[in-house]
Amino acid sequence: MERRGWMILAIIIGVISFSSGRELKVKVMHTHQPHHHIATYNHTLARILVEYASAAYLSDLTELFTWTCSRCDDLTKGFEMIDLIVDVKCCLQAFVGVARDLNAIVIAFRGTQGNSIQNWVEDLYWKQLDIDYPGIDNAMVHHGFYSAYYNTTLRPGVLNAVKKAINLYGNINIISTGHSMGGAMAGFCGLDLSLELAEQNVQVMTFGQPRIGNAAFASYYSQVVPNTIRVTHGHDIVPHLPPYYSYFPQKTYHHFPREVWLYTRGFGSFVYPVEKVCDNSGEDPTCSRSVAGNSILDHLTYYGVQMGCETSGTCRIVMDPRISAFVQEDLDGNLVLSRDLSPPILKLNTELADQGSSF
Ligand SMILES: *[C@@H]1O[C@H](CO)[C@@H](O)[C@H](O)[C@H]1NC(C)=O
Ligand SMILES: *[C@@H]1O[C@H](CO)[C@@H](O)[C@H](O)[C@H]1NC(C)=O
Repeated sequence: MERRGWMILAIIIGVISFSSGRELKVKVMHTHQPHHHIATYNHTLARILVEYASAAYLSDLTELFTWTCSRCDDLTKGFEMIDLIVDVKCCLQAFVGVARDLNAIVIAFRGTQGNSIQNWVEDLYWKQLDIDYPGIDNAMVHHGFYSAYYNTTLRPGVLNAVKKAINLYGNINIISTGHSMGGAMAGFCGLDLSLELAEQNVQVMTFGQPRIGNAAFASYYSQVVPNTIRVTHGHDIVPHLPPYYSYFPQKTYHHFPREVWLYTRGFGSFVYPVEKVCDNSGEDPTCSRSVAGNSILDHLTYYGVQMGCETSGTCRIVMDPRISAFVQEDLDGNLVLSRDLSPPILKLNTELADQGSSF
């Protein structure tokens, strides 16, 4: 009886190693693309960037700006915040800073902070490709996603902060990241920076990102920002939206490459995680598209990290009066929390401590 048990176990292990062997082959195959720029998936980097994307959701601007928030620890320790940009009118938020361990400028965008993620997701079904992406034949995008980046205070705020960082640190890499709607904005930002700062190495990694444009747009995007990874998780519904209709190719939304699909395999106690690097079509039918997109829960966790807001409230801003010296406010009430970056950089906590002692 016991011997039989071991035999079954051996067979199961054999099956698992056979299938993971296949997985490995798939990955190797896809590194032989004819393009000279290939987005190579780096698990370590993904684990770090997902924490930045998660932190971007926090509404306590003091903790975020001073990088002392609950999500500002662990793999993002030592991040040097430059600017925190809050478009109060449109309820959008992004930050820009330098991660010395990555030797990179990191830009992270917050996703939707609505009352209900459910409503936002339902709304995504009906999004039309309703504006032409300027300057590119047949390229169309969704107006809401496009203008969240291009027609709010985020774009000038981010560009200004990135230029400050380049002045100080030189030509280091630029990484744009975000989750959900924040991933859509991270994509537009990566595209914008690649065009604006042609000599810079721009990289994009998004998590649970919706589709933002059509096939012509996706194709243009992937030429300009080849170093892009779009991580999807299990049955996360958002990457399935707005819908892709393969039988209606000219009118449908189309993801840009390269997807990396996180899912689990096996059964019972033999469940183990797989990270599948997908093909460079953007719509690999063997990745997340091979399953139903029916989970909001899968949308809210990536690599075990909680995404989304801590509390489901309306657009909320929490700010300590001690950081008011760093705040610039425009006529619409939009905010930029900005550090004076004349070197040598003072540790912000020391600046705060000094201010605090004068209370
Ligand atoms: C993956 O990223 C990490 C963090 O940036 C880096 O230390 C490591 O060298 C990278 N690995 C590869 C194979 O590029
Ligand atoms: C940009 O926003 C302004 C006001 O918020 C609006 O009037 C204008 O139509 C928008 N432009 C585009 C291209 O979305």
